[in-house]
Amino acid sequence: MIFSRILGTGGYLPERVVTNAELEESVATSDQWIWERTGIRKRHLVSGEETTSVMAERAARSAIEAAGIDANDIDLIVLATTTPDRIYPAAACRVQARLGIKDCPAFDVQAVCTGFIYGLSIADQFIRTKSATCALVIGADANSKILDWSDRRTCVLFGDGGGAVVLGASEKPGILSSHLHADGRYEQLLYVEGGVFHGYDQPASVKMQGGEVFKVAVRTLSRIVDETLAANNLEKKDLDWLIPHQANIRIISATAKKLGLPMDQVIVTVEDHGNTSAASVPLALDVAVRDGRIKRDQIVLLEAFGGGFTWGSALIQY
Ligand code: ACO
Repeated sequence: MIFSRILGTGGYLPERVVTNAELEESVATSDQWIWERTGIRKRHLVSGEETTSVMAERAARSAIEAAGIDANDIDLIVLATTTPDRIYPAAACRVQARLGIKDCPAFDVQAVCTGFIYGLSIADQFIRTKSATCALVIGADANSKILDWSDRRTCVLFGDGGGAVVLGASEKPGILSSHLHADGRYEQLLYVEGGVFHGYDQPASVKMQGGEVFKVAVRTLSRIVDETLAANNLEKKDLDWLIPHQANIRIISATAKKLGLPMDQVIVTVEDHGNTSAASVPLALDVAVRDGRIKRDQIVLLEAFGGGFTWGSALIQY
């Protein structure tokens, strides 16, 4: 039987850092409000020529190096993003060209903050069915490009970045299971205004009813944690690490509590990254692999929730 396994991880954050104190200068907010309600202190934002595909390429190069492979070994590129450089071509194709990879399928996946989990699940199925042997899965978003910077309810929450993994075919299990969900009825709680059919008179901007999103996210993430453990005949105590989507420390703490996991078994980057949407989970994974917390063969639960609504999880033996 063939499984897929993470061979290497990578991440990229733009150089420009914006602190809560800097946001106090442009909107009616405070470092204290942002910190207490979200756990965010700062975020990285793109500048100059940095685009989603540029961040994705840099994260990919770092994952390729960590995996010890040649870029041309890659036979599938899946890029999760909600902020592609253009409507088309897919940002994945731009990354493919920059990496000099010829003739492999390359496409974007749009599942907002759950996008990386969707991408990982898709690549896992390609590898298990022998349609690919070495997949590059990236999550990258330039959220700063779709925010209304005068709306304090949204602009303080997000950041930009990219995270990536190289998945290789293996006889040993790596991705143990993945679980994907969506419910399109919640569109009015979280969406981006503007677009192909809604016009470009105004710049695209995120609209969110934060309190309502919060409630659904906590409820839904509790359910998916149970679903994932049950599918693998595992108990809470079998988990070594939780890598949650980094939207809000209060949602993260609620999920950890549900799992009975102490916070020192939870990877938290929201303080320094903000919500980087599709990049959030792979960036957090990369941070914890590189600082030595996550070790080979440990059991790690990844989970995310985002616009759509979409939500999903993956259980991996790293
Ligand atoms: N600074 C100061 N005050 C603010 C700010 C701000 N940045 N933003 C909102 N407020 C005010 C509000 O106007 C409100 O004031 P009012 O009572 O006078 O009307 C008050 O603070 C409370 O607002 P709430 O929205 O009730 O605050 P809440 O505690 O719910 O926190 C937050 C808001 C942080 C957005 C939270 O609801 C949240 O994290 N929601 C979930 C977001 C999420 O998980 N998103 C995931 C998906 S993202 C994606 O998919 C792209």
